[in-house]
Amino acid sequence: MNSKSSKKESSTVSRRTFLTSAAVAGVGATGAMGVGGLLTSCSGSSSKYTPLRPDYYIPEVGSKAIDGRPLKAVLIGCGDRGTGAAGNFLSAGDNLSIVALADVFEDRITRCRTRLQERNNNEIADNMIFQGFDAYKKACELPGVDIVLIATPTIFHPEQVKYAIEQGKHVFCEKPACIDPVGYRTFMQAVRQAQASNLCIVTGTQRHHNRAWIESYRKIQEGYIGQITSAVVYWNQGPMGFQIRRPEWTDMEYMFRDFFSWNWLCGDHIIDQGVHNVDVFTWFSHLKPVRVIGMGSRLRRQTGDIYDNFSADIEYEGRVHVHAMARQIGGCHNREGEFIQGTLGSWTGTGFGDEGAFIIRDLAGNVVWQYDKEAVEGQFTQNDPYVLEHMDLINHIRSGKVINHAETTAISSLACVMAREAAYTGRSYTWDEMTNSDLSLMPAELHLGNTDMSKYVPPLPGNPPRDRTQQGQQGQRQGQGQGQGQGQGQGQARREPQS
Ligand SMILES: NC(=O)c1ccc[n+]([C@@H]2O[C@H](COP(=O)([O-])OP(=O)(O)OC[C@H]3O[C@@H](n4cnc5c(N)ncnc54)[C@H](O)[C@@H]3O)[C@@H](O)[C@H]2O)c1
Repeated sequence: MNSKSSKKESSTVSRRTFLTSAAVAGVGATGAMGVGGLLTSCSGSSSKYTPLRPDYYIPEVGSKAIDGRPLKAVLIGCGDRGTGAAGNFLSAGDNLSIVALADVFEDRITRCRTRLQERNNNEIADNMIFQGFDAYKKACELPGVDIVLIATPTIFHPEQVKYAIEQGKHVFCEKPACIDPVGYRTFMQAVRQAQASNLCIVTGTQRHHNRAWIESYRKIQEGYIGQITSAVVYWNQGPMGFQIRRPEWTDMEYMFRDFFSWNWLCGDHIIDQGVHNVDVFTWFSHLKPVRVIGMGSRLRRQTGDIYDNFSADIEYEGRVHVHAMARQIGGCHNREGEFIQGTLGSWTGTGFGDEGAFIIRDLAGNVVWQYDKEAVEGQFTQNDPYVLEHMDLINHIRSGKVINHAETTAISSLACVMAREAAYTGRSYTWDEMTNSDLSLMPAELHLGNTDMSKYVPPLPGNPPRDRTQQGQQGQRQGQGQGQGQGQGQGQARREPQS
């Protein structure tokens, strides 16, 4: 099949299947949808494919949130994404307001408050501004508040989500869920408490609310690529911007204002950015990670203490291997996206240039489905996934239903923690070991003063190479004795073949 004819066929297929789905869901052309989501299945379909599972969740989001009672939200973390998320929330429907702001820095609050007023006509009263490390508690405790929006550095997400749920609030929390195993357990405790209390949690893994990924997910669940066998996911980009330290900043203020450069605040970029792509695999496959090996280093970065490149093999259940790459170095080939292989074919997400995006090919390379952006997104006046994620949350709250896909985000986040730790230490990690680990990056005391900056050094795994004239029996013995598991610590003793 040549590429012209395959494109035509794919667009016909996708338009037809979209309209079928839309009819099932009762979608109005540009209006809001009736309920918060659709548990759908392919039973009764004449498709030649075998569905992967009997039912699966497809978000049902139209152009605007359904009408209902007024909903009030507070924002914790008034930086770039927090200000953006607050605006996205306000754009998702009618009768929505942000009533309070919480942050550790006054200038962040002021900027956010002004933007919400200018862009969204949303006024916040003077007595609804909270500053400091306990500001989040005061905002969560406010009576009459329905939703807590969280966009702080990731180390704080687990505690803040937990506290908001304890106060009986619904939550939108930016990704990642956590950056260490202690945070993972705290986050999961909140997820379970939310389920028990009929509270919703939506996370900022916005691909779950991007119509291209949603339709791709649907096709994979319908069996278009067969059983998933492997994947490669990428977030390879140029350098991430960093803050030059100002003389008036203390050590801690500097780290807070440049938090994407510091592991204890952001968890390194294999978590901060890589979680998006790893999460697509966790979501699409419904599998859990089992063990991870990985590597990484710091070649070009000059500030902070994180690495600038990672490569990890994340093994999921059933010996399904996912290669996760993450890089922040300029002047190199970039790719951000996902590729998933199955027994019947493969799915290509983004990042492959002329090869196209959101495509399913059979094993011979023929295109059997391609996302038809015009057909799908032309039905709606709102297609921004950053708005749709809030719409989904609001639809659920207003229709009295519960949405909680935070567990998937937590699993993906911890898989990335395993990749980071494997790179930092040179070890391999199992899921069981990591979920039971006491590793916590949270400092014993939070403050905005000076600290001992010598603690913050990029980790260096393994041992330096030895002069080969010094090696031999002794080197072999030492090399073999240093690993903690099978295959670990033996690299030092290996010699190149002699010519
Ligand atoms: N989904 C996405 O595409 C996306 C994009 C960007 C950022 N994010 C996530 O959003 C979060 C915030 O990122 P950002 O870009 O807005 O960073 P930012 O530095 O611009 O904002 C963080 C804000 O949190 C405040 N803060 C720090 N500690 C706090 C605390 N303990 N309590 C209250 N406020 C505190 C800071 O002062 C700052 O205003 C991160 O988790 C990041 O990974 C997600």
